[in-house]
Amino acid sequence: MTVASVLGRCTASLLCTTILLACVNTTARAEASRASIDARVERLLSQMTVAEKIGQLAQVNADEGKMSDKLRAAVKAGMVGSVLNAVDVATVNELQRIAVQESRLGIPLLMGRDVIHGFKTVLPIPLGQAAAWNPELVEQGARMAALEAAASGVNWTFAPMIDVSRDPRWGRIAESFGEDPYLTSVLGVASIHGFQGDDLSRPDAIAACAKHFVGYGASEGGRDYGFVGIPEVELRNVYMPPFKAAVDAGVATFMTAFSDVNGVPASGNRFLMRTVLRDQWKFPGFVVSDWESILDMVVHGFAANSKEAAFEALSAGVDMEMASTTYRDHLAELLAEKRIDQATLDAAVRNVLRAKFRLGLFERTVTDPAAFPPVASAQNMALAKKLTTQSLVLLQNRNDVLPLTRASLHSLAVIGPMADDDYEQLGTWIYDGDPALSRTPLRAIREMVGPRVTIRHVRAMETTRSRTTTAFADAVAAASSSDAAVLFLGEESILSGEAHSRANIDLPGNQMDLVRAVKSAGKPVIVVILAGRPLTIEPILAAADAVVYAWHPGVMAGPAIADVLFGVESPSGKLPVTFPRVVGQLPLYYAHRNTGKPPLPGAFTHIDDIKVRTSQTGLKNKSWYLDAGYEPLYPFGYGLSYTSFAYSDIRVEPARARVGVPVTVRAVVKNVGKVEADEVTQLYVQDLVGSVTRPVRELKGFRRVHLRPGESREVSFQLSADDLAFYGRNMTRATEPGAFHAWVGGNSTAELRTDFELTAN
Ligand code: NOJ
Repeated sequence: MTVASVLGRCTASLLCTTILLACVNTTARAEASRASIDARVERLLSQMTVAEKIGQLAQVNADEGKMSDKLRAAVKAGMVGSVLNAVDVATVNELQRIAVQESRLGIPLLMGRDVIHGFKTVLPIPLGQAAAWNPELVEQGARMAALEAAASGVNWTFAPMIDVSRDPRWGRIAESFGEDPYLTSVLGVASIHGFQGDDLSRPDAIAACAKHFVGYGASEGGRDYGFVGIPEVELRNVYMPPFKAAVDAGVATFMTAFSDVNGVPASGNRFLMRTVLRDQWKFPGFVVSDWESILDMVVHGFAANSKEAAFEALSAGVDMEMASTTYRDHLAELLAEKRIDQATLDAAVRNVLRAKFRLGLFERTVTDPAAFPPVASAQNMALAKKLTTQSLVLLQNRNDVLPLTRASLHSLAVIGPMADDDYEQLGTWIYDGDPALSRTPLRAIREMVGPRVTIRHVRAMETTRSRTTTAFADAVAAASSSDAAVLFLGEESILSGEAHSRANIDLPGNQMDLVRAVKSAGKPVIVVILAGRPLTIEPILAAADAVVYAWHPGVMAGPAIADVLFGVESPSGKLPVTFPRVVGQLPLYYAHRNTGKPPLPGAFTHIDDIKVRTSQTGLKNKSWYLDAGYEPLYPFGYGLSYTSFAYSDIRVEPARARVGVPVTVRAVVKNVGKVEADEVTQLYVQDLVGSVTRPVRELKGFRRVHLRPGESREVSFQLSADDLAFYGRNMTRATEPGAFHAWVGGNSTAELRTDFELTAN
């Protein structure tokens, strides 16, 4: 709570006075600590040689996490500011000892690591975490990961990745929180709070890194590292908000994107880093490049050689260079030539040193794992299970085939390449994960049903990509002789993540044929999909009675999935990204523009139904695909439950207000089914007319509520002027007067609507 917000809300009560004094004290303390950090930075800076300053800007990879003689010597000479990928605590402690005791100025190291979805206790991939729509759990997951990583001496993670991602061909969508700027902002801030805690100087806090600034998620064609062409208005309204929220949440560091953004690579982009990040947002932390992304500017054709790349990057505001050595090799020369001035170099060094002081690294350089809670503890596994359970999205449930009833079940066929693969369920970033900790679906189902139920397990395909069908007969036989079949399909971890883009996002290999073959056994077919991205699963919907989307669920995949299959928990995950019918629809997202000729519901003619010699305008000139229509397979925010929820009584107060006066949208949600369950209620808004066109809907709030059968709850969402503001035609951010629609419901196609109007005065 800021002093301003308390002042805004409080009257003269004693409580408010106390809170106010506490805030003033906290602010005073924060200012004092900032001042003392600044003084310490200046003292240190004044003693540094140019070489030592350049050293602080270097991040060096510890090859395979090992200590080499070269690394030892470089740290001793003060030529290294940060090491990445050292996680063996003895190595980390030795590196810190050399830095502190043997280098001239004794400056400790930042120890960086990709702690993306858990450390030892591997959590669902971020896209899966987003499907839980539960910021508290995301924060707790990041806190847990921070504690596990800090026990190894890691003090900096390269997370969260808050790139708005609207193209599932892009492999890194797995690492994102999905397609929506608001959901991404909320979950990004939750992760930052989790990693950094309340006080960055505590030994269990690690610095977070908002990455990749900016636009990486819009890589052309979903090809990794591709060109990014985003108009400034779209950059500011869609891709930047999560990064602005990260700055406001106090994120310690930023990472640039690999991308060429509108012709200027992000790592040499002065507009992004100087104008926006520093001048407009006042970011006080430091910026690290991505892996060799400074040197890559030569390959981009933006810098003639590595010296020019160093010049562009430092001038643009990249403080630390990851992996490549253009700063080490050329900054002194650029300084001598007066192309870079001392003030520019000093500013970068200050930014890095400030982070080290904020982290309290000068006060503690030895990591004692015994001082931390144990990793992969039962408690951590329980948290992983909870997050995984809430991330599971039920997409289809014909004839209520789910949940399975333990009492009446005699046998179950468990089929597929992902049913019992402790490695593949973990997902893309598992440097420090251990498949031996994984609980697979097969194992968990066996534990759930006990010896009374016969489980017939057939892997059927060696990998999700296998083309052989030789084991299909066994799978069919297992299904025929069982009460039902559960297939665990999807894509292995290696098919998503960095540089793992796909042009087709269907179920790879012969998985489709496997589903059809198993269906021929005539038993209920349940498909659980483990994948790093939305797949085009429409073809399996006819053969599968139920479909559960599990993403890459992490170590506790099995127990979480078993709970949902057997109705211990009702599924409550909602899609954080639109599911396309076919890949050619991409990019496809709910917050699109209306266009001048939007689809006309009911008037669409599919390519198969076009009559010969239909006139060129006879199909109506609308924005759709003749062969794929205009709707997604599943909309953003979608997910079924074992119960049903009814929404009613929507209202807004005031329905007419001056810009600046908050409006509150309320609606009632009722559990009208037979089991208790969570529902993620969602608020969407449309600003009908703007100085630039606005999306047809935008998520502006959500709340997870738990309801017993028959129970109802009023949910309310307050919208401030800031919540409705956007960058308009003149590129300033404002809330424009005019008419708005607001919908409350269970997904982005919610129909329960109310309207309000904001007036200029
Ligand atoms: C490259 C990735 O783009 C980035 O996200 C990651 O943090 C670094 N490599 C370090 O591993």
